[in-house]
Amino acid sequence: MSKTTKGAEFGKPAEVMGRHERRRITLTLNGRERSGYCEPRELLSDFLRHELGATGTHVGCEHGVCGACTVRVDGVAARSCLMLAVQSEDRAIDTVEGLAPSEGLSDLQEAFRRHHALQCGFCTAGILMSCADYLERVPQPTEAQVRDMLSGHLCRCTGYTPIVAAVLDVAARRAAAGVASEEACDA
Ligand code: FES
Ligand code: FES
Repeated sequence: MSKTTKGAEFGKPAEVMGRHERRRITLTLNGRERSGYCEPRELLSDFLRHELGATGTHVGCEHGVCGACTVRVDGVAARSCLMLAVQSEDRAIDTVEGLAPSEGLSDLQEAFRRHHALQCGFCTAGILMSCADYLERVPQPTEAQVRDMLSGHLCRCTGYTPIVAAVLDVAARRAAAGVASEEACDA
């Protein structure tokens, strides 16, 4: 397929992908290098689900409102429906599939189970990824801070209270175990 030179800067022609041209990209998904093909306008959420088979990332609104598609990009929570797959090249993408250790569940997932912080589960993958990021940055949040963080997610089932309880429980247990202070020192 032909390339155009629109947008050329400083005398160097810019390479523009054709509308339906598929390009091979490589990224690190949950610690493993993965490659796949995507179209220029393909969303990262669709690429993860349909090309790489990482269907744990859910898609709801597809315009950045519901938070169901949240993943971590280089460690930072981000809406995968607001990012193009091509923008993820050479980045580290973490999804809910990578949250649990090789055996069992992560402490965050265990807390969600303990507090019944999910019902249908549609929103849960995205909420878990936001919480995982948030607790690394704010190890000891107040209830108001947790509720503010969760305001970026829509859950139609739980009423949020059990989710808030689960996040605060994790924070308290990490603090008791000294994990939070160690991570804060390393940061
Ligand atoms: S599907 Fe991405 S925010 Fe709703
Ligand atoms: S658990 Fe059903 S939408 Fe959140």
